[in-house]
Amino acid sequence: MSIQAAATTAREEFVSTLTAAGLDAPWLEPGPLIRPKKSAMRAAVWRWRDIEPLVRRTPEFMAPGRGAERRILRLDNPGVPERTAGHTISIAVQYLLPGEVAPAHRHTPNAIRFMLHGEGAYTTIEGDKFVMRRGDLVVTPSMTWHDHGNEGHEPVMWTDALDSPIVRYLETLAMDPYEGETQPVRTGPPARHLHYRWETARAELQRCAPDPYDDVIMEYLDPATGDSVIPAFGCYLQMLRPGGRTRAHRETSSAVYHVVEGRGFTTIDGVRHDWAEGDFFAIPPRAAHAHGTEGTAPAVLYSVQDVPLLRTLGFYRVEPA
Ligand SMILES: [Fe+2]
Ligand SMILES: [Fe+2]
Repeated sequence: MSIQAAATTAREEFVSTLTAAGLDAPWLEPGPLIRPKKSAMRAAVWRWRDIEPLVRRTPEFMAPGRGAERRILRLDNPGVPERTAGHTISIAVQYLLPGEVAPAHRHTPNAIRFMLHGEGAYTTIEGDKFVMRRGDLVVTPSMTWHDHGNEGHEPVMWTDALDSPIVRYLETLAMDPYEGETQPVRTGPPARHLHYRWETARAELQRCAPDPYDDVIMEYLDPATGDSVIPAFGCYLQMLRPGGRTRAHRETSSAVYHVVEGRGFTTIDGVRHDWAEGDFFAIPPRAAHAHGTEGTAPAVLYSVQDVPLLRTLGFYRVEPA
């Protein structure tokens, strides 16, 4: 046996001994110790013209009840193995017909509703009932009992944002059904500030000074603490003024946007993505992005971004692109 063959045999023996001992030596593979990893999340746009007719067909195939508690269609990012809008953010559109109830339950993921269409929707959280009108935002904190219903005469639609991908990654997913379909509703002021009304948010946005990267933007903040509405995500309302073009930047956070009003475009890593009212779009971490509007009307965007999560971990970075 040559010296080289003996060395190879010794190395192979060493590797099999390592494996048997439950160990790995990353230096056995060529390349850097901390390997670069491409973002699984991709830039994506979901069109309202595709979403809406499909959402309206969902009652043909399911009725909300125990076992199938929420009639939702989830945004599926082609790069994310868990089939959510982003690797941290799950976004769905929920649909309820008049008289329907989505039964009460609680779970570890936090949820944020943003009302899209229809009158008569409500969410009850720990006995406090919140009537949701177009543009209202309602926060369902982790492990709070919640049920939804439609007391109106037309179907209702809202969008749900959940931190469930993070909860799943942390292997701390828990969910309990409530003993009844709905919770008894308390009277009097709610125990916590969980309902952010459209008129209030829109008026506050009007008072904000423009920013070169986001034009006019405000974050929904818990008035009791000044913190983001849930620990992992910030929710933002943003107005791009007519003909405006923002400067491009890169952030280590990721974002999913919903177009509340108007039309425009977002350039993500050099690719222009046009959007119009009702559309959703996703911006992956570290992608250079800038927004612009078309026409003479402003565009209003609602977004959910994992900035607070990245900040808490010390990983939030932003730089001009
Ligand atoms: Fe839920
Ligand atoms: Fe940004």
